[in-house]
Amino acid sequence: MTERVVIVGGGHAGGQAAIWLRQYGFEGEIDLVCGENWHPYQRPPLSKQVLDGSMKPKRCLFRPVDFYSDKDITVRLATRVTEVDASGKNVSLDSGESLGWDHLILATGSKLIHLPVPGTDLRGVFYLRQMDDSLAIGQASAEATSAVIVGGGYIGLEIASSLRSRGLDVTVVELAPRLLQRAVPPMVSELIQSLHEANGVKFHLGARVTSILGKTVVAGLELDDGTPIEADMVVIGIGVQPEVSLAQSIGAEVLGGIVVDPSCRTSLEGVFAIGDCTVFDHRVFGENVHLESVQHAVGQAKVVAQVLTGTPAAYDEVPWFWSDQHGKKLQIAGLMGKDDNLVVRGQTGIGDFSAFAMRDDIVQAVYAMGRPKDYLAGRQLIAAQQPVSARALSDTAVDLKALAANPS
Ligand code: NAI
Repeated sequence: MTERVVIVGGGHAGGQAAIWLRQYGFEGEIDLVCGENWHPYQRPPLSKQVLDGSMKPKRCLFRPVDFYSDKDITVRLATRVTEVDASGKNVSLDSGESLGWDHLILATGSKLIHLPVPGTDLRGVFYLRQMDDSLAIGQASAEATSAVIVGGGYIGLEIASSLRSRGLDVTVVELAPRLLQRAVPPMVSELIQSLHEANGVKFHLGARVTSILGKTVVAGLELDDGTPIEADMVVIGIGVQPEVSLAQSIGAEVLGGIVVDPSCRTSLEGVFAIGDCTVFDHRVFGENVHLESVQHAVGQAKVVAQVLTGTPAAYDEVPWFWSDQHGKKLQIAGLMGKDDNLVVRGQTGIGDFSAFAMRDDIVQAVYAMGRPKDYLAGRQLIAAQQPVSARALSDTAVDLKALAANPS
């Protein structure tokens, strides 16, 4: 009898898993269930090129639509899995269909955190998670002159940059006292803020939104100190959380995300999970690591495809991230612990810095903008986990490439 893999979710993880499975020679049936009405596509352009109109949706697709039928991959668009029967090895779809499986891959990603204030249902208020959201924001911004972004994380800052490039007046409201608090140390937050301010973005930090203003169409919003901010559109990007409801419904172990081993197996036989929805143990960064990144989604997709085609594989990549803002690329690798020291290399400037998070002379993370060589050396040093001198890292006369090749 032919083996069947059902993949729940057609994002970076799910879409790539289907593609990798065929590339690694999986000969059974592959069913990819996509909640959206789009074949799997690249998400990074949603807050950048799709939004500013410089990239059409078709160019974001991982593969042309015909690829999937050519490779005998059954793609169901605009379809959701409503129920999983783990012992009977079956899933029910909202189309009324049900599918049996030998291997189930949960690639359910993340779900949006919603802003709990009145007015979020007004016309002109947006969240950005999917292609259709990006297209809607792009269309609204073509007619708007001003925007308020709620949230100064990756989404908020990339959208701020894109909307400024379209000439809108842009204000960012962030609840935390600094930008990108979840992802970068304070010095990097300050430099990113300076980059945005140099490009005309205004900020309210440590500020809470109490309501979105307007009758049927948005007119702006109000902060808890009573400050009103007028705007033609509001975009909310205040974070996401792992989508674990199906996993929980079948009793798979969930600890903030679906717990998986290095082969991406969950605690249930035949059930795998990959991407944003997972947590896993990392040889460098410890237990129950949760990552929201394209690299991680694609990396775990590759591992599950290898495992299902008989090649032992384990996921233990050094995590890396990037973000494009105002024509500059922020590059990050590794994860900084709360007690790590930050070592800054040479002078810093707007759009021009590199810094290393250190624990006991071992590099844990690197942050760089405009210095790709420092970033690459940092990645190598994190992977090596060998002691290195902070003085050498901070000294621009020291060749980091040579240091990374021979740390001690
Ligand atoms: P995030 O977690 O990066 O940032 C959310 C921000 O909103 C935080 O700074 C938080 O302090 C702030 N916030 C929370 N509640 C708030 C409130 N009530 N009012 C104002 N600010 C509030 O999440 P974000 O930016 O929404 O991104 C969503 C997902 O998309 C993440 O997984 C992110 O990693 C991913 N993403 C990654 C990109 C990249 O790697 N370049 C680009 C865009 C998105």
